[in-house]
Amino acid sequence: MKILVLGGAGYIGSHTVYRLIEQGNEVVIFDNLETGHIEAVHPKAKFYKGDLRNRVEIDAVLDKENGIDAVIHFAANSLVGESMINPLKYYDNNLCGTKVLLESLVAHNIKNIVFSSTAATYGEPKHTPILEDDPTNPTNCYGETKKAMERMFYWTQQAHGLKYVSLRYFNACGAHISGKIGEAHNPETHLIPIILQAANGTRDHISIFGTDYNTPDGTCIRDYIHVTDLAQAHILAVKYLLNGGESNIFNLGNGVGFSVREVIETAKKVTGKEIKVIEEERRAGDPAILIASSDKAKNILGWKPEYDDLSTIIETAWKWHSTHLNGYLSD
Ligand code: UFG
Repeated sequence: MKILVLGGAGYIGSHTVYRLIEQGNEVVIFDNLETGHIEAVHPKAKFYKGDLRNRVEIDAVLDKENGIDAVIHFAANSLVGESMINPLKYYDNNLCGTKVLLESLVAHNIKNIVFSSTAATYGEPKHTPILEDDPTNPTNCYGETKKAMERMFYWTQQAHGLKYVSLRYFNACGAHISGKIGEAHNPETHLIPIILQAANGTRDHISIFGTDYNTPDGTCIRDYIHVTDLAQAHILAVKYLLNGGESNIFNLGNGVGFSVREVIETAKKVTGKEIKVIEEERRAGDPAILIASSDKAKNILGWKPEYDDLSTIIETAWKWHSTHLNGYLSD
């Protein structure tokens, strides 16, 4: 297959590109490198620097690259906290960027796209585990823009026949098994990288945001899913569309929840390091428990997560964080 990956220099995008190339596919990447890293681009992928909000730039790639079978779209901003402080940045990049992309795809007669959505589309869940047809009431602007993207794809399909698969990720984590690429956000806000930075000495401590939730140990529970398993789900979703599958939405998680304290304890065991912990107030907008039902992806896409054990997930992340103390800057 020949796949155009938008945002292929970012965290989940770069892991998906590696997986696509490992499985013998041809990959073209388009990324503005605003949050992505050129060092994360697979050497066998063809790279174009460009911004989705610029129709001329995306048109130029699609004019030149014939025979694209499908597009995978990761190019978006994805920090919940930042989206609350700067919502218009999220509307601009996530929604205006996707609008321009869709115009260009329709003009170039490209008919299949898989894109990143999020558990944040659900908001505070009504029950656990969360199912795809549960209500979507986002509690933050990031989730709101992803929900709006899903609707944009829905209506574009009605009018122009462009089929889509929306993948609603739970908590993406871990790193490529080789340790060559991994998670490197700036600023970092995610739990596992911050814990591992406290373990590798580049950060003083991990703060637990809230110890008074209605959970067994008082801290939030999340469903941690390995980035390579997410990558594989994208490839399966592309094949599903190319084999005639209808537009669809799938949750992607392991279906098992771990509390913040459990993640910290597991990281201590995996790294063998002391990790300083400070208990703090709750962070705004955090639901107590988010756990996916991924039965639909398993049944329809044939997806089967390989990294379903938290220790193994953290081992892969540690291989990256213990050798890249400053992310890609230390390469
Ligand atoms: N947490 C801490 N301390 C930290 C960082 C996080 O206690 O320093 C806690 C959070 O409060 C939360 C849990 O660890 O309870 C996980 O937090 P993350 O920031 O790692 O992830 P989130 O669950 O907030 O967000 C993730 C993705 C989002 C996505 C969301 C879907 O990063 O993009 O899941 O719910 F929208």
